[in-house]
Amino acid sequence: MTRGKFITLEGGEGVGKTTNLNFIKDYLQQHAISVVVTREPGGTVLAEKIRHLLLDKDSEAISEHAELLMIFAARAQHIKHVIEPALAKGVWVLCDRFTDATYAYQGGGRNMRVSTIEWLENLVQGNLRPDLTVLLDAPVEIGIARAKERGAFDRFESEKISFFEQVRRAYLLQAELHPERIKLIKANQSLADVQKALIDVIGTYLR
Ligand code: TMP
Repeated sequence: MTRGKFITLEGGEGVGKTTNLNFIKDYLQQHAISVVVTREPGGTVLAEKIRHLLLDKDSEAISEHAELLMIFAARAQHIKHVIEPALAKGVWVLCDRFTDATYAYQGGGRNMRVSTIEWLENLVQGNLRPDLTVLLDAPVEIGIARAKERGAFDRFESEKISFFEQVRRAYLLQAELHPERIKLIKANQSLADVQKALIDVIGTYLR
């Protein structure tokens, strides 16, 4: 049995991840690929509970270490119960955010040490890394304006602009460090152009 492929979609707030995730899912299905669509933090009952705790704006102040460990706890559940079983069965996994988000938000946004994140990544994931990551990138103001249209902000969305600038910089650095895996697409172009770029990336990957 050929192992499935693991594709992740990344980007700051309001870059259009949901719309484009559905587009990629449809595109893969049109190519007769069976795919599981999932998200982080989340994807299992327990991991969704952790997500709820992480996004809750009215919680007591969550320490940076608690936040980081909760994210990796959710990830450990997700890998064990959803991602690995699917890949092992030959099913592809399309995931809305994964560990690049931790480098961006906790590493960039919260200034946590990269070596700490790497250590947890190795502990929780072993050798598991995405086969392909699409990074949707847009200037922070554009993303925040779009996110605002969706309604009330969660705990992350309530951060300052400077936090999102750091998140964006850390994402772009990840793309520079892993050019083979991470494909950057500008999200501040028309949806049709974004989706054309997605077909280029995914299409090349399918071939
Ligand atoms: P979402 O808004 O894309 O559903 O993601 C929920 C929030 O979780 C988002 O603001 C980014 C944050 N997050 C992290 O801070 N670190 C992570 O590793 C992941 C996966 C998400």
